[in-house]
Amino acid sequence: MSKRTIMITGGSGFIGSHVVRLFVKKYPEYRILNVDKLTYAGNLANLKDIGNSPNYMFVRADICDYERIKGIMEGNCVDGIIHLAAESHVDRSILDPFTFARTNVMGTLSLLQSAKEVWGSRPEGFEGKMFYHISTDEVYGALAMTRPEGVEPPFRTKASSGTHHLAYGEDFFRESTRYSPHSPYSASKASSDHFVRSFHDTYGLPAIVTNCSNNYGPYQFPEKLIPLFINNIRHRKPLPVYGKGENVRDWLYVEDHAKAIDLIFHNGRPGDTYNIGGFNEWKNIDIVRTLIRTVDRQLGRREGEDDGLITYVKDRAGHDLRYAIDSTKLQKELGWEPALQFEEGIDRTVRWYLENQEWLDSVTSGDYMKYYDEMYGNR
Ligand code: NAD
Ligand code: TYD
Repeated sequence: MSKRTIMITGGSGFIGSHVVRLFVKKYPEYRILNVDKLTYAGNLANLKDIGNSPNYMFVRADICDYERIKGIMEGNCVDGIIHLAAESHVDRSILDPFTFARTNVMGTLSLLQSAKEVWGSRPEGFEGKMFYHISTDEVYGALAMTRPEGVEPPFRTKASSGTHHLAYGEDFFRESTRYSPHSPYSASKASSDHFVRSFHDTYGLPAIVTNCSNNYGPYQFPEKLIPLFINNIRHRKPLPVYGKGENVRDWLYVEDHAKAIDLIFHNGRPGDTYNIGGFNEWKNIDIVRTLIRTVDRQLGRREGEDDGLITYVKDRAGHDLRYAIDSTKLQKELGWEPALQFEEGIDRTVRWYLENQEWLDSVTSGDYMKYYDEMYGNR
């Protein structure tokens, strides 16, 4: 039998690089094909450690280029797709919604149509194929901060999976929750999710969608809250907290997300949806204080010495109040659970950014594009 070839789109971005690394190391019997346009968010240095592995290949391409994608799929006998390529930052989507519609909606459609055409023309058809679309919990909109009478948030609650956890509200995003996106980013992701499901329902394309909560960890572009603030604390620059810092996000260590993707890609039911999250809700301002304490401790400063950097700024337009995922289905059906506690995850993450200042400097200066020439020449 020929080797299985998995095409991972957006493999040079934050989450994609962790997924590529996991698959390249864990499955030497697969060929892993990373297809990435290398926008400002894509960086080959994220995969420097596995860049020369015999089962890894990189192709620079735009997912919106339908003919090119079809050619790549045909030429490499792709039989599985894990689709992460996207424009991913809410603030950018507020400034430039067209780019989000183009990449997230049209790009996903171009991949779906390519998969349908290429796989549909093979003798075995869709047998043994999988189109796995990575989405976000932001498609569900925002949750309220309701609480049981007389109880102050965060309060201890119990999910139907049996997990005890702290929550800022009584409601959670479940797979059955109605879509209600508020930002151009989440609207474009919601639209792409609908297209994926429509290809399953209309053409029988074997497809899965997962919706995950906020990820954190190494290699995240420093425009997102956690890496941006770690870098600013280190350099004693102001920390722009939107509004009152009361918004709640549900945080998952990126390697736990990558492991869930591996599990679902291999064991998930085609046509199904799974929510991924670690029952780990935090108010932004509490995260910011934790980051300050952790950076100060790791740099040998007095803990809390940098609290004065907190600067409350104008709120983000349409800022969703609270996200919280109920991942009971994934836990019960496939036995997934996050391996890392938040305190340990934050400690590791801060250490990584402090030890990788060169990476941070290169991604913020644009120098990282030189890796493309060094590793791949002008192909
Ligand atoms: P990222 O912005 O770090 O990386 C995106 C990658 O996609 C980059 O490598 C970029 O070069 C590539 N890309 C962008 N446009 C492309 C195009 N037209 N053609 C080919 N490649 C292109 O994003 P991320 O945070 O790693 O997110 C990955 C996926 O996971 C996205 O689909 C996102 O919606 C989803 N997601 C992210 C989070 C999170 O917290 N970061 C949470 C849930 C879901
Ligand atoms: P972000 O990392 O952009 O992820 P998302 O918007 O997808 O949740 O932001 C996380 C939270 O932090 C969100 O509530 C917005 C807030 N935030 C700030 O307060 N200041 C900042 O500079 C950034 C980037 C985010």
